[in-house]
Amino acid sequence: MIFRQLQDPESRTYTYILGDVEAKEAVLIDSVSEQTERDFKLLQELGLRLKLILETHVHADHITGAWKLRQQTGANIALSKLSCIDMADQLLDDGETIYIGAIPVKTIATPGHTKSCMSFLFDNKVLTGDTLLIRAAGRCDFQEGSAEQLYDSITNKLFSLPDSTLVYPAHDYRGFTCSTIGEEKRFNQRIGGGKSKEKFIETMNNLNLAYPKKMDVAVPANLRCGSTDTL
Ligand SMILES: [Fe+2]
Repeated sequence: MIFRQLQDPESRTYTYILGDVEAKEAVLIDSVSEQTERDFKLLQELGLRLKLILETHVHADHITGAWKLRQQTGANIALSKLSCIDMADQLLDDGETIYIGAIPVKTIATPGHTKSCMSFLFDNKVLTGDTLLIRAAGRCDFQEGSAEQLYDSITNKLFSLPDSTLVYPAHDYRGFTCSTIGEEKRFNQRIGGGKSKEKFIETMNNLNLAYPKKMDVAVPANLRCGSTDTL
């Protein structure tokens, strides 16, 4: 198995590659439009054929590289069926298992940051998108976000994974690269330490964050899998 974490320095997005060396197949998760050449070259160097392009959710801060990579490689694009994106090749349900070569990847619906957020579990790792960030949790104030749903997704689904499970988020702004479920249960500043749902909702409803700079461009493009052809 090959597992790589890459970063887009502008949006601080983490893109992940998971590949099966024997089958020479890979999936790319949360690609960024400006980084598709880097990602494609790395896949070639690693001897991996791109089979699938996954999104943890419809991002608001950057345009996905999914469409460009699909055109370049013929790989399928997949994301949660709750995204209702008809340009995707595959719409995923909660609890599905996707195979990359012989590696099973389980889908876990984790709504809250957005309605259609999905986490991906494989090996002892979980890609949490913006649902569970390192010591934080994704904002819930647009794209049908819900602090109540986010609390349930994190505490009922992600925190029920073994404490040793490695957490790989879609972003980090403070230099962290990964964490564990056990660490986040104890130290996450927004939801760790057994914080109540009421307190969490109050925290999330009072973040007072500015909207992402690229949101008005990124969301419409990402609802088309990153295709800007007719926009
Ligand atoms: Fe997001």
